[in-house]
Amino acid sequence: MSEPVTLSFARLTTAPKGVLIVLTDETLAFGAQTQKLLKGADAALTRAFDAERFKGKAWSAIDLLAPAGLDAPRLVVVSVGKAADLKPADFLKLGGVAAGKIPASAREATIVLDLPGTKIGPEAAAEVALGIRLRTYNFDRYKTKKKDDTERGALAVTLLVSDEAGTKRAFTAADAVGDGVLFARDLVNEPANVLDPPEFARRAEEHLSSVGVEIEVMDDAALARAGMTTLLGVGQGSIKESRVVIMRWNGGPAGEPPVAFIGKGVTFDTGGISIKPAAGMEDMKGDMGGAACVTGLMYALAARKAKVNAVGLVGLVENMPDGAAQRPGDIVTSLSGQTIEVINTDAEGRLVLSDVLWYAKEQFKPKFMIDLATLTGAILVALGQEYAGLFSNDDGLSERLAKAGQETGERVWRMPLGPEYDKLIDSKFADMKNTGGRNAGSITAAQFLQRFVDKTPWAHLDIAGTAMSSPASDINKSWGSGWGVRLLDRLVKDNYEG
Ligand code: BES
Ligand code: MN
Ligand code: ZN
Repeated sequence: MSEPVTLSFARLTTAPKGVLIVLTDETLAFGAQTQKLLKGADAALTRAFDAERFKGKAWSAIDLLAPAGLDAPRLVVVSVGKAADLKPADFLKLGGVAAGKIPASAREATIVLDLPGTKIGPEAAAEVALGIRLRTYNFDRYKTKKKDDTERGALAVTLLVSDEAGTKRAFTAADAVGDGVLFARDLVNEPANVLDPPEFARRAEEHLSSVGVEIEVMDDAALARAGMTTLLGVGQGSIKESRVVIMRWNGGPAGEPPVAFIGKGVTFDTGGISIKPAAGMEDMKGDMGGAACVTGLMYALAARKAKVNAVGLVGLVENMPDGAAQRPGDIVTSLSGQTIEVINTDAEGRLVLSDVLWYAKEQFKPKFMIDLATLTGAILVALGQEYAGLFSNDDGLSERLAKAGQETGERVWRMPLGPEYDKLIDSKFADMKNTGGRNAGSITAAQFLQRFVDKTPWAHLDIAGTAMSSPASDINKSWGSGWGVRLLDRLVKDNYEG
């Protein structure tokens, strides 16, 4: 969980300290302030560019040790490519790329946010800083031996910016979102012997109450009283109790209906009696990625004092095989009154969500509900790890999500729903069954969820491909990605605040 980077901001004219990182473009031009800084190193730079055949291709970088004519121990030049084409999301990437160029041995670095002909404003500079935080996060709390030069010690990074006060203001919000993402990553990365449902609930309570989120934790007894028997059925084979955590942030007008976020929180998914194969089962500690996202998002919204009423609900259970476990063929009555035949105990996420979605709708009458769930392996087959699957009964909500996805780089791809798919989960013995057969597995899972949302505008994000086991990127080296916190924060910011 180490993220030992301290960020600060200073005016563009401030004398740099430590590793010096400057920007260039595809013409190898520098901004006016950078030119002044590099004056003595002109010759060294020209020779280095030639030696490396450095052409300023987007996101390429060149590294000079102890450059002649400069005090800096190291000079890194990062190219943004065509500066005029930079999109807001690119500044996050820029922060990640720049942070990746700081050697683990360095304790101090300065990044000069200066480009020829393009002004890097406060919002963009704050995104660069966020990119640095996301990139330098490293979940190492269970490493008892730190390798001297590959593990980072404390690092201070200063960003030299054109508008210091404005950037500090913009970064307050970006930093809150960063805290939310890193909190979500921690939750996903934690092993399931540590992070069981009660521990997840405890951490949510501890962390979120500190920023003014109202928290309610429902334990087994409270869940039984509320009638969430379907959720409890999934947890009944585990010695761990189940939990539902309800998080409320009221930053909007009193009485205004909230937006609602619902997360699948299976702290470990063995498959239950329909047990999974051994290979790769350890990844199922991340089957609470949806709940982690919702919790991180609620933290972010509260910490940046978003002007919105929002409620987050997470369904926390452990899915284990046991003498007390649910069996294939069991029929449960859900909170909605509908009955479900459990064909496969490994299709447990939809069972958990069915009660929580219904509860959210009844209790909060929300403007919309968005659920996030590591729901199906089939979404990995369809979309890989680049896009989350989006299923929705509302075109407007879908478009707003897609736009937020483009802006943040947390992209979603809409998948179909329809009566032809819905009938695949009709059951011989009950109102429905919890699996629809081999074909269209992600869609029939979504159809199942849709039976618990009524007319409420709703979107389901299948994040089995994006939440965990993440391919390394410029802004993430961690197994758990914290996917969705930035997406949904942006959705709220662009559409639902005042
Ligand atoms: N948690 C899994 C889905 C999953 C798979 C998440 C791979 C992340 C990576 C889910 O509970 C599950 O087991 N789904 C089954 C459904 C099937 C039994 C209908 C699946 O995808 O195989
Ligand atoms: Mn499962
Ligand atoms: Zn699962």
